Amino acid sequence: MILVTGGAGFIGANFVLDWFKATSETKGAEPVVNLDKLTYAGNPETLSSLQGDARHVFVEGDIGDSALVSRLLVQHKPRAIIHFAAESHVDRSIHSPEAFIETNVMGTFRLLDAALNYWKGLAGDAKAAFRFLHISTDEVYGSLSADAPAFTETHPHQPNSPYSASKAAADHLVRAYHHTYGLPVLTTNCSNNYGPYHFPEKLIPLMIVNALAGKALPVYGDGLQIRDWLYVTDHCAALRCVLHDGRVGEVYNIGGNNERANIDIVKDICALLDQLRPREDGKSYALQITHVTDRPGHDRRYAINAAKIECELGWKPAETFETGLRKTVEWVLANPQWIANVQSGAYREWISKNYNGTHA
Ligand code: NAD
Ligand code: DAU
Repeated sequence: MILVTGGAGFIGANFVLDWFKATSETKGAEPVVNLDKLTYAGNPETLSSLQGDARHVFVEGDIGDSALVSRLLVQHKPRAIIHFAAESHVDRSIHSPEAFIETNVMGTFRLLDAALNYWKGLAGDAKAAFRFLHISTDEVYGSLSADAPAFTETHPHQPNSPYSASKAAADHLVRAYHHTYGLPVLTTNCSNNYGPYHFPEKLIPLMIVNALAGKALPVYGDGLQIRDWLYVTDHCAALRCVLHDGRVGEVYNIGGNNERANIDIVKDICALLDQLRPREDGKSYALQITHVTDRPGHDRRYAINAAKIECELGWKPAETFETGLRKTVEWVLANPQWIANVQSGAYREWISKNYNGTHA
């Protein structure tokens, strides 16, 4: 079996759902122990289709709880740890960085240490096959100018936000645990994900949800910042490839070959909604676009060079941005209850704090 951390969050839950789908096609689906603290971003409802499924063991807990993690490792004897758990929202890291250091740095450190002790106690094939797969971000590489080449795996780490600094620290710890102690690690650095079950504090789901609610669509600054968008199930497939065939100690960049300016994305979302769920007054959702104060230290451009994973492991994204965005908008339209359930009091407080109450 495998141990997944953060498997009730956006990417982790998609990974778990996809894992059962993808692995049951080839062999009996391999069980998953899913360790998640259920912060505001963790949502067990996303995993409701797995209720009663003995292959999925959900454990509510903290990756920084060494005793718990060690107990789970001894009890379940996973062949791999797939580490998603993190504080993940850049704007929250600007308002309150401490939780990012606690989970992304200290939590990853404690998880690595527990993994190392467990791995040292394995023998033979089990020891040789064990992997610690660390999920990181392209934000550790910093910001690119308009004409700079896309990030490769050897690009220096130049993190600019408390979030990306905490993820860079985690990447370095993962590297050090391999270099110093031989722990068989793999690291992936991916670009912005989007798709089903995306928490509506992030750009794409926030814009869809606000548009439908008749609220302003708050574009930071001039909206010309560029991200390289990756459909979440493409990311999940890439992670399975890395886990299966990745070379121990290596870093793999994962990207969608979809560089887009934020303002264009927001306009694309409005155009899709105009078609799929027209406003009652017949006007375009684009009228709701509002430019607001920029994010402090806002990175201008990210772009991933994914040649290494494509050449070495044969992975390529299946979705284009057009197909992925349409699926995402359709998913939000088809799942109003999931969206309503995550818009709790805590969610409303965050929106009010980040947007000064003007767009809540
Ligand atoms: P998310 O915020 O949606 O989910 C994070 C999950 O981790 C939640 O379920 C939360 O409850 C859990 N968690 C938080 N602290 C924990 C702790 N101390 N112990 C156990 N569980 C804890 O995040 P996401 O968007 O799914 O991102 C997953 C990973 O991928 C993160 O490591 C993030 O840095 C990385 N990443 C995300 C993106 C993206 O676009 N979303 C892109 C690149 C990399
Ligand atoms: O690049 C990978 C990273 O992508 C991940 O490591 C992070 O976990 C993930 O949150 C994401 O970070 P971003 O800051 O790029 O994503 P976000 O959705 O917050 O913002 C995307 C862009 O949209 C960014 O340039 C800021 C802008 N934005 C965002 C929000 C929430 C707006 O213009 N308005 C908004 O209201």
